[in-house]
Amino acid sequence: MKVLITDPIADAGIDRLREAGFTVETAYEADQETLQTAIRDAAGLVVRSGTEVTDELLSGAPALQIVGRAGIGVDNIDIDAATEHGVIVANAPEGNVRAAAEHTVAMTFATARSIPQAHARLKTGEWAKGDYVGTELNNKTLGIVGLGRVGQEVAKRLGSLGMELVAYDPYIGADRAEALGAELAELETVLDRADIATVHTPLTPETEGLIGAAELKRLDGGYLINCARGGVVEEDALASAVVDGTLEGAALDVFATEPLPEDSPLLGAENVVVTPHLGASTEAAQENVATSIADQIAAAVADEPVLNALNAPSIDASAFGRVEPYIELAETAGRIAMELFDAHIDTAHVEYAGEIADEEVDIVTASALKGMFRPLESQVNAVNAPGIAEERAIDVVESKATAAEDFQSLISVTLENGDGSVTVSGTQFAGNDPRIVRIDGYRVDAIPEGHMLVARNYDEPGVIGFIGTVLGEYDINIAGMFNGRETIGGEALTVYSLDSEPNGSIIETLEADERIISAQYLALTDE
Ligand code: NAD
Ligand code: MLT
Repeated sequence: MKVLITDPIADAGIDRLREAGFTVETAYEADQETLQTAIRDAAGLVVRSGTEVTDELLSGAPALQIVGRAGIGVDNIDIDAATEHGVIVANAPEGNVRAAAEHTVAMTFATARSIPQAHARLKTGEWAKGDYVGTELNNKTLGIVGLGRVGQEVAKRLGSLGMELVAYDPYIGADRAEALGAELAELETVLDRADIATVHTPLTPETEGLIGAAELKRLDGGYLINCARGGVVEEDALASAVVDGTLEGAALDVFATEPLPEDSPLLGAENVVVTPHLGASTEAAQENVATSIADQIAAAVADEPVLNALNAPSIDASAFGRVEPYIELAETAGRIAMELFDAHIDTAHVEYAGEIADEEVDIVTASALKGMFRPLESQVNAVNAPGIAEERAIDVVESKATAAEDFQSLISVTLENGDGSVTVSGTQFAGNDPRIVRIDGYRVDAIPEGHMLVARNYDEPGVIGFIGTVLGEYDINIAGMFNGRETIGGEALTVYSLDSEPNGSIIETLEADERIISAQYLALTDE
């Protein structure tokens, strides 16, 4: 299987992919046409911030299972499109946090003490000692916009240098901020109070242009640092604010367009310090994110949980062993329910009973949906199945019960509309032995694989013999059979495991008999 890498990552990640058995192909700074060709047969794609992963690119990647972002920001990846294509998007949110925080601290000192400017002049022989009087960080106020992973690490580091901390982040609790010694406040207050403001939000529609001319004015006489994402701070407004003296200085590692265009006003502003997106560029950080992404790609193709999947149900690795046996079982139950129901669905109800009800089951529910839609959609998996249910206006209801009748764990998939419903229940017997144990009210015991015939019939003498005879006449061998009935002489349901596929005439012959209500063939093969 091929993994395509389109932005450079650390060798440790490439080695990890090769050790996992992947063929690794690289296409750095490739044009669109080269990318489209290279991605056609790729099972995994690894990017940093340099590759735009668009709907168009994903449309030409039928084998793609996962896009791994060797880093944090995923604003260059169309996650909605990936979800529609059934492609997992995963990032490596931990590995470069400290590197980014350290770079922020470095950039803070760089601008507050004019280090790059003084350095450049000394290199050309100028001893400009009298031109630079810096700002001491001790006793100054740091305004943090976005108190997430990087923001918190910056808070710890600059807080320990004697800075007072005030932060704006509408999505974190005051307790967390307090534990870091930071006071939460509105953006305006943060900027009014800060001597130095540092931005650590993702780039989202909400944060785009969050800091513009009006906000920079509030920071009057201060410094602005952005080592998060270009686009959060308006660059023209920032350049003007530094040039006209509204701000003392600014330090930027990230830009709305990267590489930064030569005609950017930021380059002409003496007191704007810039680095070319180096926040995560330490050996340790690059190794961390590259190996994390390699591991997640290996997990995705092995159908194991992907630790930092952003668009797929994920599960704690330690719980996966307990849940794994139910993933395929739920898919099969969903598939059988769908084939038996054979009508439009209003609601899909996935119920967990017994021990499985204590687990995180999002991934199992997604698999039940995958099984349901598999006969209808060519590209369905646990990533896009919930979206397909939404598109089809199917309400997905998950419920849990502690008691599971006679079973340790029981999963039931019920499909319903206003006119009726079908329920298929499955369990795992000891030793990873999956069974379908109920279809509607009927107790059965069917191994959910291969060729299955489900007959609903009236409980009359000779019906089962008749079905056996018809199958025999067409040379179809019965491997196993289980019959359940409501009452003597009432309706019954019989499940046959067959050694081969019954052809259409068999179904017609069976259904022509007035004792048989319906006969349905279910192919539970992996074709
Ligand atoms: P994170 O998700 O842990 O934290 C982001 C924080 O921003 C969250 O606490 C969130 O609540 C907050 N936030 C979201 N919308 C907000 C809004 N409208 N106003 C205020 N706060 C808001 O992310 P992180 O790991 O801390 O990364 C932060 C940023 O740094 C990201 O943009 C990431 O891409 C970037 N980054 C850059 C580099 C680099 O090389 N320069 C390296 C690592 C991370
Ligand atoms: C990130 O979001 O992780 C950074 O942009 C780091 C990078 O990949 O350069």
